[in-house]
Amino acid sequence: MPSPLSAKVTLNDIRSARGSGEKVAMLTCYDYTTARLMHEAGVPALLVGDSAASVILGHDTTLPIPLDFLIQLTAAVRRGSPLSFLVADMPFGSYQGRTGRAVENVCRMVQLSGCDCIKLETAAGHAKLVARLADAGVAVMAHVGLRPQAVGLLGGYKFQGRTAEEARRIVSLAQTMASAGAACLLLEAVPPEVAKAVVDRTDVPVIGCGAGPWCHGHVFVTHDALGLTPRRPRFVPDLGDLAGPMRESFAEYVKRVAAGEYPAPEHAYAMPPQELAKFCRTDGGDGRDGTPVAAPVKELRDEAVR
Ligand code: KIV
Repeated sequence: MPSPLSAKVTLNDIRSARGSGEKVAMLTCYDYTTARLMHEAGVPALLVGDSAASVILGHDTTLPIPLDFLIQLTAAVRRGSPLSFLVADMPFGSYQGRTGRAVENVCRMVQLSGCDCIKLETAAGHAKLVARLADAGVAVMAHVGLRPQAVGLLGGYKFQGRTAEEARRIVSLAQTMASAGAACLLLEAVPPEVAKAVVDRTDVPVIGCGAGPWCHGHVFVTHDALGLTPRRPRFVPDLGDLAGPMRESFAEYVKRVAAGEYPAPEHAYAMPPQELAKFCRTDGGDGRDGTPVAAPVKELRDEAVR
């Protein structure tokens, strides 16, 4: 039986994964209902990723998602999972310009969503911003390796650290971000050896996303693992096929409506019989002989509609 979270998971718990060897299981989440289920399943860390642009909004890239929309999603996830360590992605365009404006946008996210940490896809030029945010008391997860927001520059979503030079640059960037004050790192789509070098040469927790076994925790897009998206990337575990049962349920509903099986009498609300009789005698019924339109339902149900 899954055990729900019973105490708040904090940055200190994530930090202690470095020493204890206990791995952090993190999942992406974008809505209240799923967050509640993840809380009940004891998932300690959640990421409201800008991957919502694809899995929620249907875009090809993560670029078009607005900051206000991500703030709303993060707040919903917080309500569903009040005890998890909650990381909120800062979307493309919300932190790339003036540092002052970026800090303002991050503060808006923190104040309005209730997240514990924000995530930035970082290049070397972001060190100053990371330091400013750390000074302001914000926990920053610096995302290095594959940066999906840089898709225009990269020309696609390919794994990073393919050459020794590229691998060295990734390790060096991770060190720069940790020195600037990043509270943790997210390392996406790099060979395990590169991840190991990052783990060895930094002193903050490293969460991997397709980065091999040496990271202190792991994350991926939940929809990919549940079979809800068309393709499961090779590093994502198979946690089941939710698409099949969902499709079948939707088709079953279509069939029942077409066959006139839904709604059935048990789905109807019932008036008290004497009121129904009165109603049918006056302006209800079929307008001719006072016959009730619906067959009377046996018991009077008074439950809440929603
Ligand atoms: O946006 C996202 O979901 C992410 C993860 C895939 C790491 O950044």
